Amino acid sequence: MLTGMPDRPRILLDCDPGHDDAVAIVAAAAFADVVGIVTVAGNVPLDRTTHNALVMRDLIGLRTPVHSGCGRPLVAPPRHAGFIHGESGLDGAQLPDPTTPVDGTDGVEFIIETCRASEGLWLVPTGPLTNIGTAFRLAPDLPTRVAGVSLMGGGSFGNRSAVAEFNIWADPEAAAIVFDAFDPSTPGTSAGPLIMAGLDVTHQFQVTPDRIEMTRALPGRLAAALAGLFDFFTGTYLARHDEGALAGAALHDPLAVLAVTHPHLFESTDRHVVVETSGEHTAGMTVIDERRLLERSEANCRVLTTVDAEAAFALILDAVAEFSV
Ligand code: RIB
Ligand code: CA
Repeated sequence: MLTGMPDRPRILLDCDPGHDDAVAIVAAAAFADVVGIVTVAGNVPLDRTTHNALVMRDLIGLRTPVHSGCGRPLVAPPRHAGFIHGESGLDGAQLPDPTTPVDGTDGVEFIIETCRASEGLWLVPTGPLTNIGTAFRLAPDLPTRVAGVSLMGGGSFGNRSAVAEFNIWADPEAAAIVFDAFDPSTPGTSAGPLIMAGLDVTHQFQVTPDRIEMTRALPGRLAAALAGLFDFFTGTYLARHDEGALAGAALHDPLAVLAVTHPHLFESTDRHVVVETSGEHTAGMTVIDERRLLERSEANCRVLTTVDAEAAFALILDAVAEFSV
């Protein structure tokens, strides 16, 4: 745990590990107090995302409960991303099996009970919003009890369609519940911000070859494992893009954590954002109102627009070094 940190934010991670979720877990463990990890079906099915969260917990020696949550979206069919993360969800490294079992299969209830018992938590979802949306639907008081939600998802363009990013696209109905919960026109709206790390900012944060080598050069088994994961992740990512479009895989999820722990690394703009749930071509789109029209709806979302990628990756290296045993 990095000492000398000002009051460390308390974070409940909701994730679908996934290569970039794994890095988000490392960053949260280094820079925040992780009160729990809840897993959701997303990149790979729930049994795998849960297995992978347990693997990462062991790898960094993190003492926090892991609860599994929802195994399928609210309405949409289950859809995964093995073509990016591999069948295991963490292809590219030889990872030891978990030494401890999951602490519960009641992820949604764990979110509700934890947020009520310990107000002022940050909810940091980095996968489909099924767990968070279900929790908000079952416990409408929750958005007013949290410090805020900092999510990875959405953007002004997509990666599963021209307009839909995977986390939102995988469960648009759940995402709509979460974004609407922060809409000032919704009764009982949360005081805390909804922060969105969408593709516009996460594509600025790439695992470039030099960054992979800096990771590999760190001592310890975590660094070696992450270097292998980065090699795989970048391989599948670049294979799916035009030559030269990216210098490495976009390391999406850690930005949702750093937006809470190191907000100075980002620029943002407050916008009204709604989630399209029914469009034949646009389902899963985050519709961001960029108009300068005074009649536009009041903002419900802090949309991250830029990140200091060099400083952010230096923090990732610090976090990895923190757990280099
Ligand atoms: O679109 C990128 C997001 O989808 C990331 O969170 C990645 O882990 C996948 O969940
Ligand atoms: Ca994810």
